[in-house]
Amino acid sequence: MAKQTKLVSAARPFLKWAGGKTQLLNEFSRRLPKELEKGQITNYVEPFIGGGAFYFYLNQIFSFKKCSVCDINEELILSYRVIRRASEKLIAELDSLQSDYLSRDEKKRESFYYEVRDAFNQKLPGINFNKFGSEWIERTAQIIFLNRTCFNGLFRMNRKGEFNVPFGRYKNPEILNEDNLRDVATLLKTTRILLGDFTRCRNHVDEQTFVYFDPPYRPLSTTSSFTSYSKGGFYDADQVRLFDFFKELDEKGAKVMLSNSDPKNENPDDSFFDDLFSEYFIERVPARRLINCNGARRGDVNELIITNYRKKTS
Ligand SMILES: C[S@@+](CC[C@H](N)C(=O)[O-])C[C@H]1O[C@@H](n2cnc3c(N)ncnc32)[C@H](O)[C@@H]1O
Repeated sequence: MAKQTKLVSAARPFLKWAGGKTQLLNEFSRRLPKELEKGQITNYVEPFIGGGAFYFYLNQIFSFKKCSVCDINEELILSYRVIRRASEKLIAELDSLQSDYLSRDEKKRESFYYEVRDAFNQKLPGINFNKFGSEWIERTAQIIFLNRTCFNGLFRMNRKGEFNVPFGRYKNPEILNEDNLRDVATLLKTTRILLGDFTRCRNHVDEQTFVYFDPPYRPLSTTSSFTSYSKGGFYDADQVRLFDFFKELDEKGAKVMLSNSDPKNENPDDSFFDDLFSEYFIERVPARRLINCNGARRGDVNELIITNYRKKTS
């Protein structure tokens, strides 16, 4: 039973991730299904895990029997799998990267950053993302290192799948947090980690499951979009495909929550999600948009929270 016991795990996201949901956790926690509070939900599924802010948060409050997380980003899923399987070796590898980096002055730190980035990109063709190998450990250390020292903490790939974010000038970046990596590893031991499209979670959802969907945002405008989590994009046709999957899981009896940016922020007449999810419960909550590729349009916007279990008032 998913009993409500405080601080089941102290783990928190180990990567900074575009679209991370830390700022919305309070809004989400006010909208949890009552079955979760009552301990009737035993299973948690998050098909677009990214940095996992909500997964880590929920696991501090509820102890689920089973969790499944999924993402299409191969490097991200590789990192989750390495932490689960080889956290101590990863800590040693990251410790050596961190010492090497911190022992240099700023100019040399910058060239070290580009050396690590080049090594990471050059090894890409030899990586088998479906079969664990010792090279995965070095790769995960590089991913965490680059994420902590790159500009804006982005994780962005070009069309060839290469990491292309420039150096970020942080005075004292926290590259290694051993305690957190150990806490994350403990939590992941009971979590199924899936690589691929969100529909891969299908067989892990039943009527005792709470599902949270956090898909890539539908761009606020054609110029301000951040859509490069991975090589492929996420288009309106994918948002419709996601609606179909939401409905399928609703019909299975699962409790489902989805968040997305509100297209009305840009165009008050754009009712894309209102139309698509008209049979479900839609709320708008204020959020700050943190990631924006040109940095020019940061500010307050609404976020949509859609559920299949809250009451419709109209
Ligand atoms: C908004 S982010 C999730 C952020 C996450 N909630 C957090 O707190 O960090 C969306 C995620 O969806 C993933 N993604 C994109 N297309 C996908 C697909 N078709 N199936 C599964 N995951 C996908 C991206 O790699 C990205 O990690």
